[in-house]
Amino acid sequence: MAKSFSGLHSSDLSGVVKVPGDKSISHRAIIFGALATGETEITGLLEAEDVISTTKAVSALGANVKHLGPGHWLVSGLGIGGMTAPTAPLDFGNSGTAARLMMGVIAGHNFEAKFIGDESLSRRPMARVLEPLNLMGLNWHEEFDHLPLTLIGAERLMPISYNLPVPSAQVKSAILIAGLFAPGITEVIEEEATRDHTERMLSYFGAKLTITPNESGRTIAIEGDAELKGAPVAVPGDPSSAAFLTAAALLCPGSDITIQSILINPTRTGFYTTLQEMGADITFENERMESGEPIADIRVKASKLTGVDVPAERAPSMIDEYPMLSCLAAFATGETRMRGLNELRVKESDRLKATADGLKAVSVPARIEGDDLIVTGSDTVAGGGYVKTHLDHRIAMSFLILSLASKEPVVVDDISMIKTSFTGFVELMESLGARFK
Ligand code: S3P
Repeated sequence: MAKSFSGLHSSDLSGVVKVPGDKSISHRAIIFGALATGETEITGLLEAEDVISTTKAVSALGANVKHLGPGHWLVSGLGIGGMTAPTAPLDFGNSGTAARLMMGVIAGHNFEAKFIGDESLSRRPMARVLEPLNLMGLNWHEEFDHLPLTLIGAERLMPISYNLPVPSAQVKSAILIAGLFAPGITEVIEEEATRDHTERMLSYFGAKLTITPNESGRTIAIEGDAELKGAPVAVPGDPSSAAFLTAAALLCPGSDITIQSILINPTRTGFYTTLQEMGADITFENERMESGEPIADIRVKASKLTGVDVPAERAPSMIDEYPMLSCLAAFATGETRMRGLNELRVKESDRLKATADGLKAVSVPARIEGDDLIVTGSDTVAGGGYVKTHLDHRIAMSFLILSLASKEPVVVDDISMIKTSFTGFVELMESLGARFK
């Protein structure tokens, strides 16, 4: 039974906190740990439903995954090609990343595995991953593009050179993972840089991988018949989760918060760059490197915001943050135009439509023009509406934050799916002084 929920007017948020571990890095640490030889000890793993789906999938394929304590996990890997056929369908729940990256893993194993997921995941496009993996040797039984699907891995994969038709780190990663199993060099050419955690972590685990910039983007080449060696991974805080705390502190008067140990990989920080352009008082402090990734503490103070034009090229570096940015834009004087948001249509919901509809429901002028979303902001937001989340955690959290600063509380239809990415979201917000009903 879905439970509706509201944020209540809040001010003076303060505190020094951490958010749960980065979701993208958590999935990869489990998967690469399972494909490596030896042990991978992980600290700070995100223990939300999406990542748990990945731990269950690699366990069902024979890897030994042990929970040692909060965020602390040990994966005993099987080596490339060492997995065994699952005896039951692999259930990926709400997680597109888990399903798509694991397609790259199954491609390299000569057995069948049935992939299933929840209602939202079963609506999401899979052809973008299956097409390149098919060129490498993966097959399946049913009509493709959507789960459920029974995949048939190959004894020997073929290396390919593939131009990514969509800027998707999940597609890129699935191909690079399959490339581990293919003799020779597998190449992925991307026009726009997408998050590069796969490249960083595979190199950190010993894969031979090169990145060459070209006129329009970059080529990533991975050497096949690879061997990965397990290595310790400290997962940094998730900048996509920190985005909600950042937004709350900007909007609630008198706030001053610090969010510690957040990933600041430049392929993920478009949201923060945009906010600085809007006039936000955000500083990165104590910048450092951990497990091959840059991290920092983020300090945020309440700020007056001004609307800006967000270029399409920035979209991959903030793709999951547009619902939150759009809600912030409601409080920014003037117009905010966010360009090139086509990929938002195929997330956990059609996020472009869900965001625009949500804003309209709380009396904020918002319109979609082609692939752009335009929001007209002002100092005060009436709020008071009812927002449909469509099983989408980021829509739920974005409108709860908007509600903290609007005149009337906004009712969000369901918050149960927040646990797919951000365990303890409400409690953490409350610890900063935010109020909910
Ligand atoms: C992710 C890539 C992005 C992002 C998702 C996580 C990843 O998806 O939206 O939340 O971990 O690779 P796309 O690759 O489909 O853009």
